[in-house]
Amino acid sequence: QPRVFSGIQPSGGLTLGNYLGALKRFVDMQDEGNFETIYCMVDLHAITVWQDPETLKRNTRELCAGFIASGVDPEKSILFNQSQVPEHAQLAWIFNTVARMGWLNRMTQFKDKAGKNRENASVGLFAYPSLMAADILIYHATHVPVGDDQKQHLELTRDIAAKFNHDYGVDFFPITEPVIEGAATRVMSLRDGSKKMSKSDPSDMSRINMTDDADTIAAKLRKARTDPDALPSEVKGLEDRPEARNLINIYAAFADMTPEQVLADVGGKQFSEFKPMLAELAVAKLSPISAEMSRLMQDQDEIDKILRRGAERAREITAPILAKTYDIVGMVR
Ligand code: TYM
Repeated sequence: QPRVFSGIQPSGGLTLGNYLGALKRFVDMQDEGNFETIYCMVDLHAITVWQDPETLKRNTRELCAGFIASGVDPEKSILFNQSQVPEHAQLAWIFNTVARMGWLNRMTQFKDKAGKNRENASVGLFAYPSLMAADILIYHATHVPVGDDQKQHLELTRDIAAKFNHDYGVDFFPITEPVIEGAATRVMSLRDGSKKMSKSDPSDMSRINMTDDADTIAAKLRKARTDPDALPSEVKGLEDRPEARNLINIYAAFADMTPEQVLADVGGKQFSEFKPMLAELAVAKLSPISAEMSRLMQDQDEIDKILRRGAERAREITAPILAKTYDIVGMVR
């Protein structure tokens, strides 16, 4: 059976980009029923940039609440945090010996996150993609749903799998398919249509947080930057209009429509008319999720229990794959 793996970092609150680009797609793939689905809070990735320990714990639990409130069912899917399944880090070490410095040097996320002061970036931040490849390959996952910004990391995952197979003369790790689909694979900042919506943007007005209340969501969308023209009736007309395109994509993703279908309905409208429609749709979809998140957050023990149970189920898959990997590599056991 094809197997899906994906992860989200508990390094801050969830944004609309995480929801539309990833979480909502996770739920779709779970509910389609064709896949075994495995979803992870990647706490070991989060600490590649220093996290306050108490905040990290809170963010991990809140992220778990976000998964469940969005529709990930911990019975149907395996849901856990990365550090409770040690095989991720163990396989990552093997992959550190497979990946080449040159490959990791080309990673744009590393360059962005390390900034100018590369000498001061953690070794973990540099090796981040090996751990990500291990996350995926320790399950022999075949499909990985992500937003567009993870594409380069997934290509590296394929390179690592292929080099491992080649170096040891085996056909052991699968060459994974990225699943970058839907209208919202790249949700942009509400203040600048050329920048990705991100939890690290200093302006809170640039993003919608999953925990924002209805008034805040409406206000952020009302104030979102746009151009002065009316909406076009075809997707072609969105070229060179990144802000307009972003709002149409967001609408389409919420409504489970294509941008073409949305424009067929709203083409010709001014933003003054379209923005309230978008706000109404966004609030209708997001407020039940944020209400459920706060409800789930009341019972921390229950969340911790779900994560522990998820980790146990995950280890049933990861332990034999790590053992086989060690055999292939030549570790005496
Ligand atoms: P992270 O935590 O930055 O983001 C989680 C998911 O949300 C997607 N995403 C977006 N999608 C559309 N528009 C946006 N503005 C936007 N911002 C974020 C991301 O593409 C991602 O799918 N390295 C990963 C976490 C990870 C992982 C993995 C993913 C670790 N191991 C294994 C898949 C498989 C990351 O930092 O995602």
